[in-house]
Amino acid sequence: MNLNLEGKVALVTGAGAGIGARISAKFVEEGCTVYVTDINAEAANVTAAGIGPAAHAMRIDVTKPIDIQLRVQEIVARHGGIDILVNNAGILKTGSIVESSIEDWDEVCRANLSSVFYCSKAVLPIMLQRRYGKIVNIASMSAARAGGVFGNVLYGTTKAGVIAFTKGFARELAPYGINVNAVAPGLVETAMTTAKLTPDIREQVLAKLPMHRLADVQDIANAVVFLASDMAAYITGETLLVDGGYLTV
Ligand SMILES: NC(=O)c1ccc[n+]([C@@H]2O[C@H](COP(=O)([O-])OP(=O)(O)OC[C@H]3O[C@@H](n4cnc5c(N)ncnc54)[C@H](O)[C@@H]3O)[C@@H](O)[C@H]2O)c1
Repeated sequence: MNLNLEGKVALVTGAGAGIGARISAKFVEEGCTVYVTDINAEAANVTAAGIGPAAHAMRIDVTKPIDIQLRVQEIVARHGGIDILVNNAGILKTGSIVESSIEDWDEVCRANLSSVFYCSKAVLPIMLQRRYGKIVNIASMSAARAGGVFGNVLYGTTKAGVIAFTKGFARELAPYGINVNAVAPGLVETAMTTAKLTPDIREQVLAKLPMHRLADVQDIANAVVFLASDMAAYITGETLLVDGGYLTV
């Protein structure tokens, strides 16, 4: 399937590691120029260097709206626009509501939900001007129950917010040639999850998973790149669940 992504400019947040790093590499494989952005500048540098010359590292903290706007303006000045934004950066907090502090709530909301608004808002002027844009938000299967395998309500709630935001934003932007969709991954082994995946939890998850395997970063990247392409031109406001059937049981 030719995704026709050659020459597109993509910005991926939280791309220094894990899912975002693989999404960035996949965009380059499809012929895009990609901005590998992360709060961790060193991780962004290493990941971009590993991908090749079409990948550019940039430090962006998605909780800082001014920072984001300035960086987006820099990219637009260099390339004339941004075609694709992937709101991937996120953090996981575990623990019950009783154990969670107000600071925990604010931190997880800013990193997982406000960030989606901030980054989308920053790319909107150029996407509206060019009447073209693809925004893909990374939600989570944990949105379905407001709490995933690790049972955190705060995290799941922010991801449910991402799905709601995706729908409303898609409706508003559809007349302007901008598609907004989300991908909701199942459990992927990355820095976010690996320490929490004790042998017991892993066994329980695998026993419940119809496919008997965790998701791979490639499974998620494939879905993101599809939604960012014109192959998905008539899809907007959708959340694509990539969970190996976990929520079917
Ligand atoms: N791993 C999973 O099982 C899983 C499941 C569902 C959804 N997700 C979601 O996928 C996305 C990527 O997760 P991952 O598993 O690759 O995690 P990860 O921890 O491996 O990578 C996340 C990256 O985001 C960066 N980051 C954190 N805060 C940031 C900020 N304020 N600004 C910019 N960058 C920041 C980190 O430095 C890191 O490089 C997240 O939104 C996560 O919630 C992950």
